[in-house]
Formats: sequence, structure tokens, C-alpha cells
Amino acid sequence: MSFRDPFHNSLEIESLLAQAGSRWDDRTGSISMPIYQVTTFRHPGLGESTGFDYSRTSNPTRQVLEEVLATAEGGSKAVAFPSGMAAVDCFLRLFKPGEKILVLEDLYGGTWRILESVFRPWGLQIQYISCEDLEYPERLSRHGQFAGLFLETPTNPTLKISNIANAVSLAKSHGAIVAVDNTFLTFCLQRPLDLGADLVVYSSSKYLGGHNDVLSGVLVAKTAELGERLAKLQNTTGAVLGPWDSWLLLRGLKTLPLRLKQQQQNALTIANWLLSHPAVADVFYPGLPGHPSHAVHQSQASGAGGMLSFTLRNPAKAATVLSKVKLWLFAESLGGVESLITLPVKQTHADVPEATRIHLGIVDSLFRLSVGIENAQDLIQDLAQALED
Ligand SMILES: Cc1ncc(COP(=O)(O)O)c(C=O)c1O
Repeated sequence: MSFRDPFHNSLEIESLLAQAGSRWDDRTGSISMPIYQVTTFRHPGLGESTGFDYSRTSNPTRQVLEEVLATAEGGSKAVAFPSGMAAVDCFLRLFKPGEKILVLEDLYGGTWRILESVFRPWGLQIQYISCEDLEYPERLSRHGQFAGLFLETPTNPTLKISNIANAVSLAKSHGAIVAVDNTFLTFCLQRPLDLGADLVVYSSSKYLGGHNDVLSGVLVAKTAELGERLAKLQNTTGAVLGPWDSWLLLRGLKTLPLRLKQQQQNALTIANWLLSHPAVADVFYPGLPGHPSHAVHQSQASGAGGMLSFTLRNPAKAATVLSKVKLWLFAESLGGVESLITLPVKQTHADVPEATRIHLGIVDSLFRLSVGIENAQDLIQDLAQALED
């Protein structure tokens, strides 16, 4: 049984997602995918199965979600986890102790933490590389043979851009697996599998869910073989997304293209406004022509999304700004309909050593904005009063 796409993958993303899970239940015709709140399934007879045996292995609500995600991303198989970190953990378990992976130095603090506190002590060799290295791949030859390459683009929180095609061609010459964390843009705006990557990683707690109400993660594999390896690992280690959360994510996905359109439009308006504000030192948004990797970004993505960051001329004002915002919510996540403001140095990247943070540009006055779907002028007015002396 599957999510039943009678259009055989010929629909545009808006149509595919709007009807996600709407044709599964032939018996009742349920338009919303039912929530199968069940752990186990009755067998028709010895050696027989309905296709579902035990919910750790497979559950109908989760399966439909995974099939929709695999189709949307252009992959063979998606696997849904109870958090983005559980998805990252499963990806890293593909490697053996002693193997080397190249990892972009600029990445979500939690990913850095799992690499340094779990996988390095376990024996994985981790070599950090920069976005610039990917523009000059010959620089990477000094790292020798490697088994995997992991990157985020745009990066969290400084919105740097990595050249996905360059990363893929380098990795393929080593037979290495390339994984791209696509959390910031989603398959609506950037399609790493079409650019040759093997795997896409998500914190679907962010844009895919979109309402700040469901913690979850996803891996989407290009090939069925890699997808099966991941599904086996997941079934063995047990981090599966529950039926309720699978349903919430499926419901959120239905409006993803609409939400992203509004978030992106708002983000561009706000980025341009911040550019001319006297209290602001730098604005980081790949949709601005002045962004150093604007051209690379445009060559590999169809939009710049709803995330941006900026620094203040006077770092001492950071705490005051946070205490003055009224409409912007001071909180740690991103990608939801509500606009959030984050201070990465004290929140998302607090565990990253100070020297590394400074090297990456995560300074004391760097704010990250996750722009929601509110009215852009309301959001600007609130920032204006918070930035006033
Ligand atoms: C880019 C990115 N990847 C992965 C994660 C981890 O996801 P989760 O918080 O769902 O575990 C996050 C969380 O903020 C993130 O921003």
C-alpha cells in the first residue's frame, strides 16, 4: 500500500503536497490520512503479512508521510525520525570507526556537538572544510581518501553558501557519500539530489512542519539501496517518528509552498530595510545581490528562503534589542509561521568553542531571524523600535 499518486509523479509540488495522504483510505474515502495509533498488526496467517507487522518497522501514517517526502524531494526513499538530530545520528552511523568524513565547518551547533561528543570518540575521523574550499576543490586533495561529505547550504546562522555541484564532483572521485542538510530551503527552493547528492537531511521541526509544534527529522536517499540501509539502521536503533507527529508533519506539508513564498517575500523586504539601518553593521541573506555567493546560490537554488542574519554596529546593544522586541518572538527554532529572533552565540551555537565561533563570524551581536508569515511592515516597525537608541 502506498500514498497513491494516480498522477504518477507528474504533478507540480503545490498539487502533490496539497493532497498529501488524501487518497489512501479507499474504504472510507478519508481526505485526511488516518492516524494509525497502533504498535502491532494482526497477521492474516502464518508467514503472511498485511504489509505492516510492527510500528517500529513501518506504520501506515509514517509510511505515507515518507512516500510523500521521497516523491517531493526526487528521492527513492525517505525515513522519518523523532528529531533532526536523530536523522543526523542515523546518517553518521553509515560510517565505520576509522573512516574519514569531510564536514563543512559552518553548521548547526547540535550537529557539531554530535560529531565532537559522540562520533569522534567512537572513532570517526572528522575533517572540517570551508565553503571557500569547495570553490577551490584542489585545496581538498590534502585530506586524502574520505568516505563521506556533509554540508549545509545556506549555513546556520551566517547564511554562507556551499557549491553543491563542486562538493558532489569531488566526493564522487573518492566514491564518498554526499549529504546536504536542506533544512533552510527545503525541496521547494533547492534540490540537492538533482545536483548529484546522495542524501538530504532535514530538521523537519522547521519549515516542513512549519508551525513550531512538531519535533521531527527526515533523511531522503537518492537510491533505493541507500534508503534501505537507512531504514534498517532506523529499525535496529529504534528512533522512529510516531503516528501523531507523522500526521502533524503531513498536515504541515500541505501548505509549505504557500508559507515559504510569504516568508521569502517578507525576508527580502526586511533584509533590504536592515541594509540601510544606521544601527546595523552587516546583513547576511543570499537573496541580496551584495551577498558574496549570490551567484553560486542562484545557480543552485530557486529562492533565498526566509532566514537571514545581521550584526549590530554596537554589540553592547544586543541584550536591549532582545528585551525590546514585541512582535518578534525571542526563541530558538526556525521555519514556522511565527517570526523568531535568536542570538546564536547564547543559544544555538553556545556549545561551539569561542575561537571557532569567532572564526565563523558568530559574534556577540549576530542575530538570526526566522521570518514568518506576518505582515512585513508590522515586523519592520517592531524591529525599528527595538533598534532605536
Ligand atoms: C540546520 C539544522 N539541522 C539540524 C537541526 C537539528 O534538528 P532538531 O532540532 O529537529 O533535532 C537543526 C536544529 O535547529 C538545524 O537548524
